Amino acid sequence: MKNSSATKTITINRRELLALGGAALGSPVLSRAFTQTNPFPQAPSLEVTRQGNVVEATLTSAPANLNINGKNAQLMTYNSSLPGSVLRVHEGDTVRLTYTNNLKEVSNLHLHGLHISPKVDQPMLEVKNAESHVYGFELPKGSSGTYWYHPHVHGNVATQMAAGLVGAMIVSGPLDAMPELRDAEEQVLVLKDLALVDGKPKEHDMMDWMNGQEGSLMLVNGAFKPTLRAAKATLRLRIINASNARYYNLKLESHPFYLIATDGGFIEKPVALESLLLAPGERAEVLVQLTSEGRFKLQNLPYNRGIMKMGGMSGMGNMSGMGGMTGSSETQPTTLMTVIAPSNPKPLALPSSLLPVEKLDLSRTVVTRRIEFSEQMMQAKFYLNQKSFDPNRVDFQGKLGTLEIWELHNKSDMDHPFHLHSYPFQVIDRNGKPEPYRAWKDVVNLKKNDLVRIAVPLRDFTGMTVYHCHVVEHEDRGMMGTLQVND
Ligand code: C2O
Ligand code: CU
Ligand code: CU
Repeated sequence: MKNSSATKTITINRRELLALGGAALGSPVLSRAFTQTNPFPQAPSLEVTRQGNVVEATLTSAPANLNINGKNAQLMTYNSSLPGSVLRVHEGDTVRLTYTNNLKEVSNLHLHGLHISPKVDQPMLEVKNAESHVYGFELPKGSSGTYWYHPHVHGNVATQMAAGLVGAMIVSGPLDAMPELRDAEEQVLVLKDLALVDGKPKEHDMMDWMNGQEGSLMLVNGAFKPTLRAAKATLRLRIINASNARYYNLKLESHPFYLIATDGGFIEKPVALESLLLAPGERAEVLVQLTSEGRFKLQNLPYNRGIMKMGGMSGMGNMSGMGGMTGSSETQPTTLMTVIAPSNPKPLALPSSLLPVEKLDLSRTVVTRRIEFSEQMMQAKFYLNQKSFDPNRVDFQGKLGTLEIWELHNKSDMDHPFHLHSYPFQVIDRNGKPEPYRAWKDVVNLKKNDLVRIAVPLRDFTGMTVYHCHVVEHEDRGMMGTLQVND
């Protein structure tokens, strides 16, 4: 009760503040009021030039000072914002994306989730300081959905992403014109936590390398606990887990989510969910029907991904019990943002159907592969099939145009979100249990002991690419392999 009346007072302060203009922001009292009612920021759209279906844009990674939750932070950014600007393109577009690296260290750009050639989206490419590289590709039909971009130089991924290098990519398509989607209020939510020490990204310590680094500042589009005043009663949220290691187990107070799309685009019809788990790298699109006025918190519910806890370590007489010491990152729900419903809300009807999702004929599978996930926790070393990543080793060779089944087996104590570049897949079953609906994915979470089978069509492109754990610290510490697709 006390809280809600305090919130009201602050809301009034915020309006007064806006009336006064920006000059008043310096006052400590007012700036405190300001931070408590952070308006929901939309990530800026990347400026593009378009001629017909040819789209050109530029992205630059560089150090930048940003105001994060009222304090200065020295980050690494794409085009000087956190998250980076949203690249908005359309199915069938030909994109020419010029990337310039103004960081003091080597980096590159990975277009996470797009079904484009590994010769374009080259995970081993290195773009040095002051160098540029042009990524040219075509967006396939049927690929409309929510994607993202981030750096991918092995060994630098975790620290660069922890410093802020993430951005969203939206591919639109014909289905977006259906009234049930077109007339909804669309918002992109980039979930990125930051661990800051004295305004700088915290240096990774051993625990960060083991567990993957989580930051206590859980930001939505770079804002801490922002408030979204919805203009419409139906929201279409495109949610991206762009965090290094944090899992989000999302729930909106008093509202189910209606899942309409996963990593690789639309599913066949909306699926009602009480909560939505997003592992690092995963995306989802959901519809929310705001049926009554009020303020509703978007919460992150506790989720146990089996990480090692420092507190547990200190009392230990011997190391043998370490595997059993696990815990969740948070034990209480935390608020990520607040949604304020419009007055007298009348949400749209849900779409009765979305897009057919191709049914793959598993009898045509030419090869079944197995990947075992394991770890040597105390050294923070992570393995796929007992091997650490080697860019010069070909782990799997596939044939263009064939269908493969991959069995992913997590033999470690921690969850690992598996990710494959360039070739979207479908999850067949988890521990023998078929998936409840068909969907295109590029990340699938593996809980301890899980055996997940995925169907991987190797379509359209030859070349060398990678698969890895998307807790990017684990990727940097070896949990990655190579796939070579030949003619
Ligand atoms: Cu988003 Cu290889 O990763
Ligand atoms: Cu990727
Ligand atoms: Cu992992």
